[in-house]
Amino acid sequence: MSRFSTSSATALTIVLLAAQSGYSLPPTLKDAYKDDFLVGVAINRDIAMDTVAPADNVSRTQGRVDKDVALVKEQFNQISPENDLKWSLIQPRPGPDGYDFAPADAYVNFGVANHMYIVGHNLVWHSQVPDWVFRGTNPPPAQITPSMGFRREYSGPRASREELLQRMHDHIATVVGRYKGKIQVWDVVNEALSDNGTNLLRNSLWLQIIGPDFIAKAFEYAHEADPDAILRYNDYGLENPVKRRKLIALIKSLQAQGVPVMAIGTQTHVNVSSPTPEQEDQELTDLETLGLPIHVTELDVNGAQGGQRGFGADVASNGATTQGGLVSDADQRLAAQYANLFKVFLKHHNYVKVVTFWGVNDGVSWRQRGHPLLFDGNDQPKPAFAAVINVATEKSDSK
Ligand code: G3I
Repeated sequence: MSRFSTSSATALTIVLLAAQSGYSLPPTLKDAYKDDFLVGVAINRDIAMDTVAPADNVSRTQGRVDKDVALVKEQFNQISPENDLKWSLIQPRPGPDGYDFAPADAYVNFGVANHMYIVGHNLVWHSQVPDWVFRGTNPPPAQITPSMGFRREYSGPRASREELLQRMHDHIATVVGRYKGKIQVWDVVNEALSDNGTNLLRNSLWLQIIGPDFIAKAFEYAHEADPDAILRYNDYGLENPVKRRKLIALIKSLQAQGVPVMAIGTQTHVNVSSPTPEQEDQELTDLETLGLPIHVTELDVNGAQGGQRGFGADVASNGATTQGGLVSDADQRLAAQYANLFKVFLKHHNYVKVVTFWGVNDGVSWRQRGHPLLFDGNDQPKPAFAAVINVATEKSDSK
């Protein structure tokens, strides 16, 4: 059998014809920014398994999934798993037999096969944790609730600090250990900061049962399981100076204790009205004082009228932020905001090492009514795609 598939032979012919005619192919995102940072994308189960997967929160035909897969391979050199490595999906049941590895394995294999930089998302989060994790041993049967607990917090009898630490340890050791050497970066702790008042930490069950050192413990366990992995703290809303101050206080305190936090993930779920370039610049300038690489982990720009305030990332409030139809001139405003953001990322390229879009196109986005990405639901580039490419091209021209 020939080493080349029909599609690689076709691609080769196109490249040769293009070269002969002097026509250069349009640059891709990963090529345009190859000297600056990785450009990645969160992929869903459909894409990782190249199938129409009922567990995914979107409805795509096989034809569309095939196009999504092709676009991911063409444009991006880094992937993040949108859902399949979250606790409730990878370990829905207790114990060593409680894991469902198939979708996560498919995700990692996709990255390995396509020579991509692979992120693990996430190990410890207040959301998408099954109830059994927080449940005390031998609770009265009537109080056992079977739900997976996506949006509601477990309220039955609680595990002790020691039990919960043991479960956290076993989960991290198993999942990080399984993908050791393949997953290069882990979101170890996700969204632990409080949005309210002066409290530093969110009042999660992790905090209530273990205490504030649940964060340090999670990093220690992850480091133990894969000493070569880059361990990230990831949060949203860091465009807001108040939340950012909390982040800086938290990371400095972890650093002072010798906790192996190695990169800052700033999710960057923003909108077309804010942040301004000055605000984004200030955010990155402040984060750089921590001396760690910065990863833009979940970039999208909400174009819906309802989403022009705040930088929330809670899926439960997403309905409200995608209400009201699109802002006027949505395509142009999206393009302008993306251009502004990428100019700031480039300015900070000494620290910004990864920029990940949260979804490949508007059709699979968690904010699909806000049309927040560079490609439409048919994988066609929007004006924002050209705007992002132009920022890189202008930078190269001015060198
Ligand atoms: O697994 C069930 C499936 O069994 C069921 O058939 C289906 C029906 O809707 O739902 C499936 O679960 C959904 C899950 O995604 C997997 O597809 C949940 O309902 C849905 O709420 C969940 O949404 C995800 C959300 O995180 C959960 O909090 C979004 O796709 C995902 O984009 C979003 O990503 C988060 C980051 O992880 C952290 N930062 C904020 C970001 C946006 O909220």
